[in-house]
Amino acid sequence: MGVIHPIRPPAIGAEDAGIEISGLTKRYLTPKGETFTAIRDVTVSVEPGQFCSIVGPTGCGKSTTLAQVSGLERPSEGSVRVGGRRVEGVTDGVSYMFQADALFPWKSVLANVMMGPVLLGTPKREATELARDWLRRVGLAGFEDRYPHQLSGGMRKRVAMAAALINNPRILLMDEPFGALDVQTKAIMQNELLKLWEELRPSVLFITHDLDEAVALSDRVVIMTSSPGSVKDVFDIDLPRPRGNVQEIRHEERFLELQGHIWDSLKDEVTRAYARTAGVGA
Ligand SMILES: Nc1ncnc2c1ncn2[C@@H]1O[C@H](COP(=O)(O)OP(=O)(O)O)[C@@H](O)[C@H]1O
Ligand SMILES: [Mg+2]
Repeated sequence: MGVIHPIRPPAIGAEDAGIEISGLTKRYLTPKGETFTAIRDVTVSVEPGQFCSIVGPTGCGKSTTLAQVSGLERPSEGSVRVGGRRVEGVTDGVSYMFQADALFPWKSVLANVMMGPVLLGTPKREATELARDWLRRVGLAGFEDRYPHQLSGGMRKRVAMAAALINNPRILLMDEPFGALDVQTKAIMQNELLKLWEELRPSVLFITHDLDEAVALSDRVVIMTSSPGSVKDVFDIDLPRPRGNVQEIRHEERFLELQGHIWDSLKDEVTRAYARTAGVGA
């Protein structure tokens, strides 16, 4: 459940923490016993320290792709390498943040955040200090003793972010982490994420269906086709870093240019996915 912490200290060196997804295909068995191809021949590379987003319509296989990268699922074909090593299960140095809050409801904010270091064998006092420090960094000093249900959606995201980053992962996998937030809270969280990413520089694979979000945050945007998902196009985002306020970048000329250009690639896939789910004759 939730943020997955490495169970041993990160084994991936900062210098080689890229992600190589090659020829990835995932087939599922449907309840009727048929084979369903969720993604087909997906090849994506994320350079060490790079922020890469995958954008595609609902149901195209974004979460499926990330599940193979995380090691939670095994590919039908192809391979994933993280830090140069083939992924064969949950990997050291990799953290995962889902759309759902994924916090333990019966644990306090502090206990949720310190869980990662505790699982790594950090002495409790040290883990507590580290968790307090992380809660400060995400603007939650003073909320240590609260429980997740006593927090707003944005605050829960901050806790999840602290929990995902406290072990200083070299790889951060994020599956529509801000999808459920209102527009303003989402922008605040995007700014927070960028700030922390600039400090720690993990390689990020960020899944979203929100093109503006992808362009504002990323160095590279990968567009997936509608189901079965494959890579349609890859765009490098040359907006300068640090990006500053995501709400302001959105009005810049270069942002609009890139966004418009990438939307041309994405819109057919969105239309196709919609036509399929709307159903012929529905
Ligand atoms: N465990 C599974 N068994 C069968 N089908 C699945 C499974 N997981 C995902 N799928 C199917 O694979 C497709 C892609 O799903 P998903 O990766 O969740 O899409 P996305 O994250 O892009 O919205 C969907 O049609 C979904 O129903
Ligand atoms: Mg998904």
